[in-house]
Amino acid sequence: IVDIKGRPDEGLDRLGQTLVVKGWVRTIRSQSSVTFIELNDGSCLSNMQCVVSPDAEGYDQVESGSISTGASLSVHGTVVSSQGSKQKVELKVDKLIMVGQSDPSFPIQKKRVSREYLRTKAHLRPRTNTFGAVARVRNALAYATHKFFQENGFVWISTPIITTSDCEGAGEQFCVTTLIPNAEEVIHSSADSIPKTDNGLIDWSQDFFGKPAFLTVSGQLNVETYATALSDVYTFGPTFRAENSNTSRHLAEFWMIEIELAFADLKDDMACAAAYLQYVVRYVLESCKEDMDFFDTWIEKGILGRLNDVAEKEFVQLSYTDAINLLQKASQKFEFPVKWGCDLQSEHERYITEQAFGGCPVIIRDYPKEIKAFYMRENDDGKTVAAMDVLVPRVGELIGGSEREERLEYLENRLDELKLNKESYWWYLDLRRYGSVPHAGFGLGFERLVQFTTGMENIRDTIPFPRGPGSAEF
Ligand code: 4AD
Ligand code: MG
Repeated sequence: IVDIKGRPDEGLDRLGQTLVVKGWVRTIRSQSSVTFIELNDGSCLSNMQCVVSPDAEGYDQVESGSISTGASLSVHGTVVSSQGSKQKVELKVDKLIMVGQSDPSFPIQKKRVSREYLRTKAHLRPRTNTFGAVARVRNALAYATHKFFQENGFVWISTPIITTSDCEGAGEQFCVTTLIPNAEEVIHSSADSIPKTDNGLIDWSQDFFGKPAFLTVSGQLNVETYATALSDVYTFGPTFRAENSNTSRHLAEFWMIEIELAFADLKDDMACAAAYLQYVVRYVLESCKEDMDFFDTWIEKGILGRLNDVAEKEFVQLSYTDAINLLQKASQKFEFPVKWGCDLQSEHERYITEQAFGGCPVIIRDYPKEIKAFYMRENDDGKTVAAMDVLVPRVGELIGGSEREERLEYLENRLDELKLNKESYWWYLDLRRYGSVPHAGFGLGFERLVQFTTGMENIRDTIPFPRGPGSAEF
């Protein structure tokens, strides 16, 4: 007996083989004397159709009605060609073992239930077609990310989750505390019954072993230290933003890929971002065919064509100033007015990629320095910085990056202008003191990439356990 996973589409070459398939029951239906069990083991979208007749060992489990949706089974049988139109092969069952029964209250019985409902069942939603497919594509994107950077000579650097610096300077950090007197009680109580200390409320701004500390919003500053030693590097890890925004593109906890190139400028940075994005898109199109067809049919019609274009066509590039001019010509379409110096709203980003440039990714560069972070390199005009954002249809901003300010005096001046505490950036400034080099990098929100490649509308459905206002269950 070969213990392999059920792949009915590729199963023709296995005709006549005996197999053991272990998985979870999607549906069970009886027809005259045979029973059909659709079994899925998560290796692919397709189920293995298991045909059980009364002479199979373990048929009594079928007869007694103890097999229901959600149950786990180990099924032994022979691969035969199928009469059905949905699959080429099926498993003629010799022996069926119930591994774990499923209570009839199994909450995902119906074929179609809303995404909102499934978010309340995050522990069981991977058993659906959609969430199984999203998980596999997410996995393929992560694998392709490492593959791309490793093949191109980058070194993967682990950056810390607990930090004292606010990379983006937006004040959106969660603080870390060590001082919870009754930790047990806090964990097991509901939020509004959080215990109070003798002298009143717990001070949640309490510190990390005597000093303030936060969850990182970005690993960039840390990874720059390795870029100025090992040249081309990247991080891939969780980041946190305490923005209280309930949008379909924001999470409080998301994964970010951040790359940093030494001896590089904005042009190199944009070229790297485009090459990486095209590589991972091509990778999922080639290696996740079944899942991608599913997304094209059920989630976003036409996504395959769109992604094929992304993989092949050159990205459009334009300056922030040109983007503003273009948006002003279409100003009647927008809720938020546009003028030079403003941050682009999601409606503007979407107009640019979806309408002005027909669905192609667009790189916007040279933003006003006032709306960008302190570390971005000032351009000669004194008004803009060498920054770039990659915008894509539906999602908007997928990538944000820049050339870094490598000149010590410029960086110190900028910190002063923004009234940031220079002392706390002493080590970051050191990189400009000891062998500074022009360098550039970018960050890509991994969940937005999953959103972009699967067509999932809400970012909460691209990560197994989404975190945001009101969602920390599971
Ligand atoms: O534009 P951001 O804030 O840039 C940085 O953090 C830089 N330090 C990156 C770098 O240059 N190394 O964030 C980068 C990307 C965004 O383009 C977006 O895709 C994603 O991270 N992102 C979020 N994704 C989900 N939820 C949120 N709340 C996000 N905030 C940013
Ligand atoms: Mg950004």
